[in-house]
Amino acid sequence: MTGQDQYFNHRDGQYVPATEDLIESNRYSRNPLDIFLRVTKVILLFVPTLIREVITFLVGAKKKSIKGQIALVTGGGNGLGRSLCLRLAREGCSVAVADIDFIGAEKTAEEIRRLGVKAEAFKVDVGEQQSVEQLKVNVESKLGPVDILVNNAGLLAMLSLSEGTSEDVQRIINVNLTSHFWTIRAFKDGMMERRRGHIVAVSSTFGIAAFGRTVCYSATKFGVRGLMEALNEEFFMNGYGDEIFATCVYPCFVATRKEFLVYLQKLGCRVPIQTPDEVANLTVEGMLKNRCEIVASPWYMQVMLKLYSLMPNSVNRLVVGIFVDNLPQLTVRS
Ligand SMILES: NC(=O)c1ccc[n+]([C@@H]2O[C@H](COP(=O)([O-])OP(=O)(O)OC[C@H]3O[C@@H](n4cnc5c(N)ncnc54)[C@H](O)[C@@H]3O)[C@@H](O)[C@H]2O)c1
Repeated sequence: MTGQDQYFNHRDGQYVPATEDLIESNRYSRNPLDIFLRVTKVILLFVPTLIREVITFLVGAKKKSIKGQIALVTGGGNGLGRSLCLRLAREGCSVAVADIDFIGAEKTAEEIRRLGVKAEAFKVDVGEQQSVEQLKVNVESKLGPVDILVNNAGLLAMLSLSEGTSEDVQRIINVNLTSHFWTIRAFKDGMMERRRGHIVAVSSTFGIAAFGRTVCYSATKFGVRGLMEALNEEFFMNGYGDEIFATCVYPCFVATRKEFLVYLQKLGCRVPIQTPDEVANLTVEGMLKNRCEIVASPWYMQVMLKLYSLMPNSVNRLVVGIFVDNLPQLTVRS
């Protein structure tokens, strides 16, 4: 632990407040020359950096090849995960299809093998750290070390703050957010040793713009976003900026489970619904360009999501009215 034991070893009444001299010595330098030099450096580097980014945006970044790499997709048995597995297989990856639904995982693995690509199915509960550790052992012994980790498994349970049991709430957090810590911790060391890797996380547009009565789901998807942005910076700070990449994907609505589409229909939702294959294509295309953020939605949704954080809540609520007729009703589960 790096001087943070106080947070993990609570002792009653032992709280030590910061002293005036510590506060003073932690303040930024007030030396005007020092500030001038720092600001000048930023201005000088800002322009060429921005120009490079604009050129990359206009010309399009060069795609990397992932042929022959080993990809692991959680929740790969069904829905978006299945499409991601198949898309990665078409890029020439061997695929580990990991799911709590082993029958679904087997079916996806069989589809991939029919493409002439190596694939294995694995049973895992990503919400349990031990299960993830066991998955690592099983995948490495059958396929080899993982180069591409896709954290896709998630529960789309839209609970308001007053809905669900405490176990339901904990389960959503475990599967949608905590699981990412277990899988990343399990596979990142190998990637760092080999100085090659890519971690992809499936968040949601609900991880950019939260919506009432989706409190728990939105909280986890915002959490995934924070985790991935910090992880990206951490790889960069540790000297892996050109070798290991972190990509966070924000799909809007995807036609996966039947029950989910029935639910959207009840809400009178007018948001465009994409197919899992469409979202998997956008995801893998963006990943091949090492993009750190992929808003896998039509362009006008992307513009609206960018504006969302700039607009006052009252304006955002008006815009939501364009897309949804009936607010989600509270559901009580015993
Ligand atoms: N469907 C959408 O509209 C939509 C929109 C935005 C984001 N997403 C996100 O995309 C991801 C996939 O969503 P989907 O619509 O394909 O969901 P889905 O329910 O259709 O499929 C999820 C898969 O994950 C598996 N899974 C669930 N819990 C698991 C666990 N504990 N361990 C291992 N596997 C587990 C399921 O068995 C299933 O195969 C999720 O993270 C979801 O939040 C979906």
